[in-house]
Amino acid sequence: MSRIAYVNGRYMPMRKAMVHVEDRGYQFGDGVYEVCEVRDGRLIDERRHLARLSRSLGELAIRAPLSPKALSVVLREVVARNRIGYGVVYLQVTRGVARRDHAFPTPAVRPSLVVTARPLNRMRSEALAASGISIVSVPDNRWGRVDIKSIGLLPNVMARQRAVEQGAREAWFVDRDGTVTEGASTNAWIVTALGIVVTRPADHRILRGIARTVLFDVIKAQGLTLEERPFTLAEAYGAREAFATAATQIVMPVVRIDERTIGDGKPGPVATALRRAFHDYAEWG
Ligand code: PDD
Repeated sequence: MSRIAYVNGRYMPMRKAMVHVEDRGYQFGDGVYEVCEVRDGRLIDERRHLARLSRSLGELAIRAPLSPKALSVVLREVVARNRIGYGVVYLQVTRGVARRDHAFPTPAVRPSLVVTARPLNRMRSEALAASGISIVSVPDNRWGRVDIKSIGLLPNVMARQRAVEQGAREAWFVDRDGTVTEGASTNAWIVTALGIVVTRPADHRILRGIARTVLFDVIKAQGLTLEERPFTLAEAYGAREAFATAATQIVMPVVRIDERTIGDGKPGPVATALRRAFHDYAEWG
């Protein structure tokens, strides 16, 4: 079955799905995106993803291409047409097509909207979570507004590539103070020796992950203590557990950071329990 993409009002086979060479997303990275989990054919936390999309668009003064309601119809249609049971749906909005000039086009042009979906292998995801992943740390060299889910991801791309080259799955960015900000495409967490779950506050230095927000509810329901504060790489090395969260990973245990083994080198009980309970607290579309 050929994959179907939605591009500016039309559903079309992937190989025919194209955007203009002067799309500002292509030329400047002038756009934003969302990635939403699909489980049992249903969208997970769609409402929150669309709310964050609105915020990202607002911060960059990009017009919404469709109302949230119409967008929701398109997301569902792309999931259905691609027969996704378990996987992800990706949506991207750019400022649109205009002759190349850094400043916004005047008058404003129609924003471009692309939606794609792809299946993931559930058994492979679960196997990965059962063994845990390795992380490498890299300097955080990103701009000061990574709270906006921009498609300009070059530092994240370089970081992830570094991880892959070192046999790891993800990179954690470390700022000048030695504190971990977040992963290349995940939020970063540790569990202290006292069993306290720690993650960095969502300021302009990290993306406010949807999985992160949902996990706050899971943590509370499990009677765990949460501390929203920065933690250093040194603290992470010595943590009892560490894990990463994202729509694509849910709760992914971390068993190694750089050359250090975390805990006993196996996924810890806290990360494992949070992963198991996650979808009881997520919103099913
Ligand atoms: N990434 N931090 C960064 C830098 C991210 O790119 C992501 C998500 C997250 C987690 O956000 P959420 O819980 O809403 O998925 C944190 C997506 C999955 C991606 O780029 O593929």
